[in-house]
Amino acid sequence: MSENKGIILGIESSCDDTSASVIKDGKILSNLIARQAIHEQYGGVVPELASRAHQQNIIPVVEAALKEAGVSKEELTGIAFTAGPGLMGALLVGVSFAKSLALSLDIPLIQVNHMQGHILAHFIQKPNEQKKVPTFPFICLTVSGGHTQLVKVSDYFEMEILGETLDDAAGEAFDKMAKVLGFPYPGGPLIDKYAKEGDATRFHFTHPRTTEYNYSFSGLKTQFLNFIRKCERDDPDFVEKNNADICASIQDTIIKTLFSKLKKVADDLNINQIAIAGGVSANSHLRNELQKLGEKKRWDTFIPEFQYCTDNAGMIAMAGYFHYLNQDFVGQEVTANPRMKF
Ligand code: KG4
Ligand code: ZN
Repeated sequence: MSENKGIILGIESSCDDTSASVIKDGKILSNLIARQAIHEQYGGVVPELASRAHQQNIIPVVEAALKEAGVSKEELTGIAFTAGPGLMGALLVGVSFAKSLALSLDIPLIQVNHMQGHILAHFIQKPNEQKKVPTFPFICLTVSGGHTQLVKVSDYFEMEILGETLDDAAGEAFDKMAKVLGFPYPGGPLIDKYAKEGDATRFHFTHPRTTEYNYSFSGLKTQFLNFIRKCERDDPDFVEKNNADICASIQDTIIKTLFSKLKKVADDLNINQIAIAGGVSANSHLRNELQKLGEKKRWDTFIPEFQYCTDNAGMIAMAGYFHYLNQDFVGQEVTANPRMKF
């Protein structure tokens, strides 16, 4: 082992995924995620159930991550955990676990901002992998269930939010519209799946208008709901008959909206390193369109591997590693911060 680069355990529990990851000398050795199916039937994440499921999952997930990495607890040189933003009860499970493990092993504790973790996922490499990574400064469009942000990343921890959603996040818009269509939570991946067979030009929705680099999705959600209700009045089987075209049309509207501001910010700042991050960056249409747009605009585009798009501890371990190199540690008084900012 290279003494100064450490072996860090990353822990993520901000929402409904319990995840643990091990990073050694800056290379990810394992990334395990326990998803919580319990929320599907409720149409969204139930905070109390999420925190209970984290309590059940955390020890087995950590043990499995250590085992897969071939690392024992005693070899760890740091514990990184998500401090926020996220659900208070969910975060507390990860924070408390990380604190007690760090205390018992007498090793440093590293707090990570979840949104910075999503962005720093672009630096994840496996052993013997030499992937092209973004160079600073780059723009990252971070799109998840709770956030939609355009971030200028000038260094690992020098990040500036240039624009964000004024109401619903893009993932939330996907999930709420999916709920209108009768899909279980989270509906975003199902819209993606059905849209593959559909015609995106079939139904037209007005693109939300906002100032500068900000977004707004709540009006689109209402427009969509009214549209479906009206069509169902005329034909009760409307959704069933037109499922694929509806999904393709609404997905395309969300993605065009996301890209309109991304293009503007990249042009205005004259930056050609463009990344996407967060759960919605798993969307196949978003990934394909970014690739095409990047070729047209001569951008270097960065699209995370699927396992590092939605919530995962690999990104927390990666961010933890950069903090570790800076010796940026926290004490046992640290606690969860549901509204943590950069
Ligand atoms: O980053 P993430 O796992 O959790 C948060 O921090 O919020 O993002 C979850 C969000 C959900 O809204 C989910 O529907 C969306 O990401 N999502 C997708 C896809 N995969 C996940 N949305 C559209 N298409 C997908 N393929
Ligand atoms: Zn997230």
